[in-house]
Amino acid sequence: MKAITFATHGGPDVLRLEDVAEPTPTADELLVRVRASALNRADTMQRRGHYPPPPGESDILGLELAGEVEAIGANASGFKPGDRVFGLVGGGGYAEKACIDYRMAMPIPDGWDFVKAAAVPEVFFTANETLFTLGRLDAGETVLIHAGASGVGTAGIQMARQAGARVLVTVGSEEKVARTEALGAEAGINYKTTDFAARVLELTDGAGVDLVQDFIGAAYWQNNLKCLKTAGRLVLVGLMGGAKVEVDLGLIMRKRLQVIGSVMRSQPLANKIAITERFRSRWLPELESGRLQPLIDTSFPLAEAAAAHQYMEDNRNVGKIMLVMD
Ligand SMILES: NC(=O)c1ccc[n+]([C@@H]2O[C@H](COP(=O)([O-])OP(=O)(O)OC[C@H]3O[C@@H](n4cnc5c(N)ncnc54)[C@H](OP(=O)(O)O)[C@@H]3O)[C@@H](O)[C@H]2O)c1
Repeated sequence: MKAITFATHGGPDVLRLEDVAEPTPTADELLVRVRASALNRADTMQRRGHYPPPPGESDILGLELAGEVEAIGANASGFKPGDRVFGLVGGGGYAEKACIDYRMAMPIPDGWDFVKAAAVPEVFFTANETLFTLGRLDAGETVLIHAGASGVGTAGIQMARQAGARVLVTVGSEEKVARTEALGAEAGINYKTTDFAARVLELTDGAGVDLVQDFIGAAYWQNNLKCLKTAGRLVLVGLMGGAKVEVDLGLIMRKRLQVIGSVMRSQPLANKIAITERFRSRWLPELESGRLQPLIDTSFPLAEAAAAHQYMEDNRNVGKIMLVMD
């Protein structure tokens, strides 16, 4: 089968389309003919050598897929060859075939194409876990979502609004301000031209927000603490602005803040099955009804994965960047 591979770590141009051996499903897995996959920021980190796959996972990039079941492991019940499925994988999506545990595979709803299905798992699962399961966001609360135009951000804005929360976001351009406000954010704050903490305090009459969903890490640490309410929660989901900070523990104690971290990929299978189930029960019906939509920016053929990575690293996307197989 064809797959995207890289022999050395580095920039997008290390990615190559090559012939590799097909994966063999375990007893609990489905072998899927992949029709669409999607980029995630983690893929660019793995390509650069900063985010190795967890033990036992495919070393091919790609954390989500949609396609047709081709073969079924001995224990994998509920599916037959030809079924259209989508879901989260620990790796292997940038290929013509990949394996997925049958408990993580979901039937593609009628009327959805493969690209729409492949745009959903990683960002809606991540947003659900970090805003709701860990962040405990509730109706009437205010959340600050950083990188509001990212894949995860565009899912989270819609989910938080649907849950009755007030949503503020940070983004890096005026175009992204307009796009995130159109998605349901009450205010998009351009962090390149505005002190976001000052603006958040202004927008909340000095009170601050109940929850910050942060993908930036070190560069935003001080300002995140500043714009949290007393007893507010900070969920760390990404470290695009660095990992090392100097901490004033006194401030965390005085404001009674909670700092929570999360990475989905390296969690045990049982946790990821539970994450899939939480998404299916609360959010899949909202997506099926059309009340929520995965926001798709651009689709590239699998062979153009390098151009897709460059596009992501240039921060040009609003929503998901897709890879489509022939
Ligand atoms: N913990 C988990 O389980 C988990 C799961 C999925 C994703 N993530 C994390 O979630 C984040 C979003 O992922 P994604 O795939 O949705 O990303 P994405 O679509 O590539 O969007 C990322 C956006 O972040 C902004 N950005 C990049 N570097 C920045 C910096 N240094 N400071 C401020 N903003 C910056 C850029 O938009 P602007 O133009 O607005 O700057 C960029 O377009 C990543 O950090 C990823 O690692 C974590």
